[in-house]
Amino acid sequence: MPKVGFIGWRGMVGSVLMDRMHREGDFLKSFDPVFFSTSQVGEKAPDIGKDIPLLQDAYSLDELAKQDIIVSCQGGGYTEKIHGRLRKTGWKGYWIDAASTLRMKDTSLIVLDPVNRKGIDEALDSGVKDFIGGNCTVSLMLMGLGGLFQHDLVEWLTSMTYQAASGSGAQNMRELLKQMQLLGHVSEPFLDDPRSSILELDKKVSEFSLSSNMPREHFGGVPLAGSLIPWIDKPMDNGQSKEEWKGISETNKILGRSDTPIPIDGTCVRIGTLRCHSQAFTIKLKKDVPLDEIEDIISSHNEWVNYVPNLQEETMNTLSPAAVTGTLSIPVGRVRKMSMGGEFLNAFSVGDQLLWGAAEPIRRMLVIALD
Ligand code: HSE
Repeated sequence: MPKVGFIGWRGMVGSVLMDRMHREGDFLKSFDPVFFSTSQVGEKAPDIGKDIPLLQDAYSLDELAKQDIIVSCQGGGYTEKIHGRLRKTGWKGYWIDAASTLRMKDTSLIVLDPVNRKGIDEALDSGVKDFIGGNCTVSLMLMGLGGLFQHDLVEWLTSMTYQAASGSGAQNMRELLKQMQLLGHVSEPFLDDPRSSILELDKKVSEFSLSSNMPREHFGGVPLAGSLIPWIDKPMDNGQSKEEWKGISETNKILGRSDTPIPIDGTCVRIGTLRCHSQAFTIKLKKDVPLDEIEDIISSHNEWVNYVPNLQEETMNTLSPAAVTGTLSIPVGRVRKMSMGGEFLNAFSVGDQLLWGAAEPIRRMLVIALD
């Protein structure tokens, strides 16, 4: 039976992965799971309904090399430290990773099987061993608009993002909630008195938000609650943020067209939601396709995309982080032709950043590798 090593299974993405594996009955499949730890070696492994060894040392190349497949949600630092050294020992197993470190390497494939299953099968056949989950906004965009790409209808696309705190990590989610709690606390006396001045309340909240009492360690020293941050990840040389650069680079790599890339660009913005990323798209189509055909193309691409008619009530009820959080559903709505002309399409999409944006493509790649 193949041995599968899990690293980083206790973190946020790792916990979502474990939950999904339990729900899908993945641990009932024929493989021997081995859980690794960077800090609790020798302690009991999680209960997965099978007899499994105690926690192994995630830094032991000998133990890692015994695995046929390694699934890492431990983060880029770990991948940086271990992957190259493990490969140098001659280890030929599959490395399935949620971190971005290896994504753009020629020796890696970015996995999102509802979009690039053919690419995954070809990569497996040709001996590729590193299978890496994509950037969350890229994966969520492709899950929503995959049909348009599949039909080669996209001339170019802009994506303006509304990204949740979870994309920065668990501590960022906590900080956002702490900021919200404190802003609520400052507002309380005003909210308790219905005759209090809204402008005074606004002033109090704004002053507090910029004061040293506002926790702001995790978002680069600025508040997120009641505000937004129009910069995600490092600056690139061309004025883009790295998150924006990933839009064109990773999308085209997933689509297998890095040599003839579809131009994709936009502004990536962090907003005060917890775990759902949203994106507003302007899509320049290669031709003027009628809206009913567009609906068919988008909604028939995969079983998770959910086409939302461009109606106020349905949009408000289904096309939001509040409605989507914790689900695999990818609603795509606000689909309409723009005033620039019939080839210009507007669309809006929401997706859970921890599910299709992180854990789910990894889980599905493991299942494919085990088959
Ligand atoms: N870079 C993303 C974000 C995380 O900051 O939201 C998902 O890849």
